[in-house]
Formats: sequence, structure tokens, C-alpha cells
Amino acid sequence: MNRTAAGHRVIAIDGPAASGKSSVARALAQRLGFAYVNSGAMYRAVTWHVLQRGVDPHDANAVAQLVEHSSITCRLGEPESEIAIDGVNPAEHLRDDRVNDGVSFVSSVPRVREILVAKMRGLAEEIDVVIEGRDIGSVVFPDTPFKFYIDASPEVRSQRRAAQGQRDQIAVRDRADSSRVVSPLVVAKDAEVIDSSNVTIDQVVDQIVASLRAKGFR
Ligand code: DC
Repeated sequence: MNRTAAGHRVIAIDGPAASGKSSVARALAQRLGFAYVNSGAMYRAVTWHVLQRGVDPHDANAVAQLVEHSSITCRLGEPESEIAIDGVNPAEHLRDDRVNDGVSFVSSVPRVREILVAKMRGLAEEIDVVIEGRDIGSVVFPDTPFKFYIDASPEVRSQRRAAQGQRDQIAVRDRADSSRVVSPLVVAKDAEVIDSSNVTIDQVVDQIVASLRAKGFR
């Protein structure tokens, strides 16, 4: 099935941390006039909420209990999707060190994933979307024919994070994200893999657009 129930198209962009997928997804959405949905920001916002409430991110039951009793609202936005939890949008805290350190634990809790995946699917019923994450092509939208996996060498990914002035243990996070039981980071079997190590964001977007056209995308 090429479209969502409401008739919209979904372009899935997955990949490890600092692979360039956010920049690619944002630029691609702009080029196509699609909305850009950042699913990593949703997991980060829930992690921030867990920490704010003094809940241990390693305590899966406590995390599940908290999200169960929190009001989570996701909406399309410009330049990207937005999330509010109990009325608070923690946008400026999403890259805090403690969020970087906790997000792999919080995102491995099945109930957190169930809730956020339902929100993502809801957004894709409103409009055509480019959505980036770890399991978008494999789990969230397995039926979309438009799946890309953006990768880059570990050296390039570390350099990118450092250039952003962030202390982010991306190798640790990648290991956790790839080895978790529920919806691990994998290359969906029908995804096109693109290495962004030595090319510009625009070149990656050009490659994706060419590939979409070859798949009959109008
Ligand atoms: O893309 P990002 O680095 O902002 O994502 C932060 C974390 O959120 C990542 O380490 C794992 C989790 N995540 C996930 O489990 N599933 C997604 N679809 C997106 C992100």
C-alpha cells in the first residue's frame, strides 16, 4: 500500500545517530512540500519529562507508568513536528547531556514506543510526511515503498557531533539502539542505503529525489 488510510504519502528516513538523517529529512521535506516529522525529538521529549519528574530512566515500569498518566500531544509544525507533554514543549532541552544519556533507555520501553508510534501514524493521516528515526521503515510505516537508510562512518559521525558542540556518546547510543529487543535500529529489507560520509546534504537529497522518481513518485 503506497499511501496511508487518508491517502497521504510517507517517506521514511532511518539511520544511526549523527548520520545526517535529520538534515536530509528536513531538506527533503522542504523540497517536496511535505511536513517533516522528527521522531527522535519525541523520544527525547519523553526522556526530558521522565527526568523532570524524578523518575529513573532505567526503571522501565516507572517510565511506563508515568507516560501512561501523562498527556502527550504531537502536532505538525514548521520547520518540524512539535510535542508537548502535560502542556510543556521542552524544545530547548532536547539536546541536554542528561537527555542524550537517558534517551536510549526510555525509548526501549515498549509502552513509550506504542504511544509515540500511534502519534506518528496520526500525523501521517493529516498530510504527506518525511519522517526520520530508527524504526520508521521497519516498524512504524512498513508498507511505504519510500524507505531510505542514511549512514556515515563512525569518524564522520563523531566529528559532526563535536562540531555541534555536543557531548553525546553516539557509539554507546547506537549499540543500545541496535541491540534492544523492541524495534531495534535495522536496515529495513527494502530500504535504499545511502552513505553520507563524503557528500553534501543536497547531494543526498538529490539522490533520494532521483530514486523516488524512479519508483514512480510524482
Ligand atoms: O535521532 P535522535 O538521535 O534524536 O534520537 C534519539 C534517540 O531516540 C535514539 O538514540 C533512539 C531513540 N529513537 C528511537 O528509538 N526510535 C526512533 N524512531 C527515533 C529515535
